[in-house]
Amino acid sequence: MCGIIGYTGKESALPLILGGLERLEYRGYDSAGVAIIEEGSLIVEKQVGKIRELVRSLWGKPFKGKTGIGHTRWATHGAPSVDNAHPHTDSRGEFAVVHNGIIENYLDLKRELESEGFKMRSETDSEVIAHLISKNYEGDLLTAVLKTCEKIRGAFAFAVISSREPFRVVGVKQGSPLVVGIGEGENFLASDIPAILPYTKRVITLEDGEIADITPEGVNIYDFWGNPLTKDIMIVPWDLISAEKAGFKHFMLKEIFEQPKAVGDTVRGLLSEFDSFPFSLKDFSRALIIACGTSYHAGLSAKFWIEKYAGVPTEVVYASEFRYGEHPLGDDVIVIGISQSGETIDTKFALNSAKEKGATTLAVVNVVGSSIDRESDYSLYTHAGPEIGVAATKTFTAQLAALYYLAIGESPKKEPLLRDLLKIPSIVENALESAEDVESVAEKYLKKKDFLYLGRYLSYPIALEGALKLKEISYIHAEGYPAGEMKHGPIALIDENMPVVVVAPRDRVYEKSISNIEEVRARKGIVISVGFEEDDKLKKYSEDLLKIPEVPEDLTPFLTVIPLQLLAYYIASKLGLDVDQPRNLAKTVTVE
Ligand code: AGP
Repeated sequence: MCGIIGYTGKESALPLILGGLERLEYRGYDSAGVAIIEEGSLIVEKQVGKIRELVRSLWGKPFKGKTGIGHTRWATHGAPSVDNAHPHTDSRGEFAVVHNGIIENYLDLKRELESEGFKMRSETDSEVIAHLISKNYEGDLLTAVLKTCEKIRGAFAFAVISSREPFRVVGVKQGSPLVVGIGEGENFLASDIPAILPYTKRVITLEDGEIADITPEGVNIYDFWGNPLTKDIMIVPWDLISAEKAGFKHFMLKEIFEQPKAVGDTVRGLLSEFDSFPFSLKDFSRALIIACGTSYHAGLSAKFWIEKYAGVPTEVVYASEFRYGEHPLGDDVIVIGISQSGETIDTKFALNSAKEKGATTLAVVNVVGSSIDRESDYSLYTHAGPEIGVAATKTFTAQLAALYYLAIGESPKKEPLLRDLLKIPSIVENALESAEDVESVAEKYLKKKDFLYLGRYLSYPIALEGALKLKEISYIHAEGYPAGEMKHGPIALIDENMPVVVVAPRDRVYEKSISNIEEVRARKGIVISVGFEEDDKLKKYSEDLLKIPEVPEDLTPFLTVIPLQLLAYYIASKLGLDVDQPRNLAKTVTVE
């Protein structure tokens, strides 16, 4: 997944584009580049590495051009290199393109173009777009883009500028996100809102099959047949401060500490939105939850709640695996797609496939106007605000709040259960007060090479989530496992070098969790437990106890995940790793 930005207007384009790329860097950061129309010529500067390498290469080149595009890359086709970095240009250097997505038929297009004498300079799929626009150009950039869109297949959001038309940027949206920013005498294109938020709060979210033709004077939107469209302009409620670090060392730490607000805002948001819902879970014979990564773990937690309070049999499936099963679906099934970004292509495709089979689709998303939001029959919104750290934290607990709220909506005991849920933000606040204790535990284990995370029942999804957090930001191998399954294999791994994190709040499986802890200790394993702060028994059995305030059993996931997020954060931070932008990862995976 990559980040793209475009600008044309009254200011020099370069600083605005670089600023926007900085805020898009979490989407991918193995190379970056800009193209500016400078005194009638197209200037392109590209670098491998992060945005700061590109900025360094631009020192002493104060381009003043007022139209430009920029790109930060997460490599799909072709290794990170200057040639493979965007922007890509046509052979004559008159057109420059930045692209996010995958052109699925690029090999055919490449062969066709090369047979016509076009010379490719990169290994990427994106480069074919620049050559096609050049080939199709007969004096009007929009027309050339429309003809190009007839030829390409796949998921693509791209922006193009040309020295032939120095005050114009054309952007296309199909499968990958693209928004238009409306300024005064200036206009923007970007992969997402935070990139342009410092410059304007007036935004148009493009939908698949739409094209934005922008000049300093205005914005026109068309469909792929060239028909003009009228779009609503949204005033973004976020301010930039909420998208900045606010004094924390990393976005991830800020977002961990924002969880009381994220959960509280989500519940308050649902209280206002929810009654407008035209269906009840009980209208359906079964529920199918589809998600990836951390969102999948939220789905595993929701399964317990939906089956308990709505009595609806619930299955949870990885979105990337969903397509390989038959999954007989019909209008008696509700398919719930959980995705904080609302752009994860596996989840998006799986939901669309379920919809085609007649299922009702419900999105649980954090980004209003995202693809999954717009393509689902209904949406439940988490109100966590923008999450910049690649590792999901506040959006996870906000998802838990939304899913719990959905499940208890069916219960005759909804009111008391809702009162318990409304207490969670302050209880999470208390849990965060133990952050320093977690930091000192992190110090003890940051050199370890393997961790095992164990949990039963509601703590099993949290064990998976804790393991994912550690591996994705510290690069230390960690495996989440059902505690009851440990004796069926993983117990062979345990020795005096293996920290074993056991999630063991005092719930219905507590005694069995204690037995698991004893099995680990009997093999000299190191036990780091997560449990209630007054639990002296657990403390006695553990090398370290990561304490959480006591809560009703059903709500333990909101609390048990907190010390595991902090443990992963402090280990990675103390190892000096790039916590917010871990290697090989991107915040939103828009490739299959
Ligand atoms: C979680 O920390 C990771 N960033 C990743 O597993 C993420 O949860 C997954 O890619 C799903 O993203 P989504 O919620 O935006 O669909």
